[in-house]
Amino acid sequence: MREKPKSSDRLIVALDFSDPVRAQDLVEQLGSAISFYKIGLELACSGDGSNNGFALADRLIAQGKKVFLDLKLHDIPNTVMRATAELARRGYEFLTIHAYPPTMAAAKEGVAGTTLKLLAVTVLTAYDDADLTAAGYGFSVQDLVARRAAQAWGLGIDGIVLSAAEVPALRLMVGGEMLMVTPGIRPAGAAAGDQKRVATPASAIAAGADYLVIGRPITEAPDPRASAEAILTEIAATDA
Ligand code: C5P
Repeated sequence: MREKPKSSDRLIVALDFSDPVRAQDLVEQLGSAISFYKIGLELACSGDGSNNGFALADRLIAQGKKVFLDLKLHDIPNTVMRATAELARRGYEFLTIHAYPPTMAAAKEGVAGTTLKLLAVTVLTAYDDADLTAAGYGFSVQDLVARRAAQAWGLGIDGIVLSAAEVPALRLMVGGEMLMVTPGIRPAGAAAGDQKRVATPASAIAAGADYLVIGRPITEAPDPRASAEAILTEIAATDA
C-alpha cells in the first residue's frame, strides 16, 4: 500500500516563474508553511549559470524542503535511463516522465536503488481528441489516459499526474498503490484561469488524490502565505 503523506506535505506549490530570484522570494514569503515545491521547465531553464532553477532546487533540498522536478522527460531509452540516473543523485522527491512504455521502463532502470519517485504524465491536459487524431493516435484522450495509466502501473511507476475528476476511475483501475498527483486545483471562489476542469482542495482530497499541485491561487495571491495556510487548513480538515 502506498504511504499516506503527512497532511502538511500534500500541498505542492508550483513555482511557475521565469526568474529564480522571484521564485526564491516567494519561498521566503511562504517560509515554514510550505514543505514541497514543484520546479518545471520554465524555472529550470531560467536565470544564468550562477543562479537558475536547478540551483534553487539544490538550495531548497539543503533547507530540508521537498522538490518535485517537473521536466516531463521523453527520449530514447538510453538517454532517459542516464538522465534519470543523474537526477536521482540530487535528492529530488518526484520526477515526471511521459507515459510511453519504453520511456517509463528506462526511467525505472535509471532510478533503481534510489529514493526518487517517478510520476507518469499520461496525456497532457492541453490536448484533446482532435490533437491525438492529428498526432496519429487512434484513441480518445480518455482511452489513452486509461491505457497509459495501466501501463505505468504494470511497469511499477510510482504515480501519475491527473485531474481530480479522473482520480476515482483510475483508483478503481490501478488500486490503492499508485500515487495520484492532481493539478487544476482552485479554492472555492478563486479564478480558474486557463484550467478547464478544476476541483477544490477538499474535493480533490476526498476523491482520493495524494498530492495537490497549486500555482496561481498562491503565487498570485495578495498574501501568498495566508492563501497557502487556508488551503492547508482545508486539506487537513478533509484529511482528518
Ligand atoms: O497555476 P496553477 O495552479 O494552474 O498551476 C498548476 C501547475 O500544474 C502548473 O505548474 C502546471 O504546469 C501544472 N500542470 C497542470 N496540468 C497538468 C500537469 C501539470 O496544470 N496536467
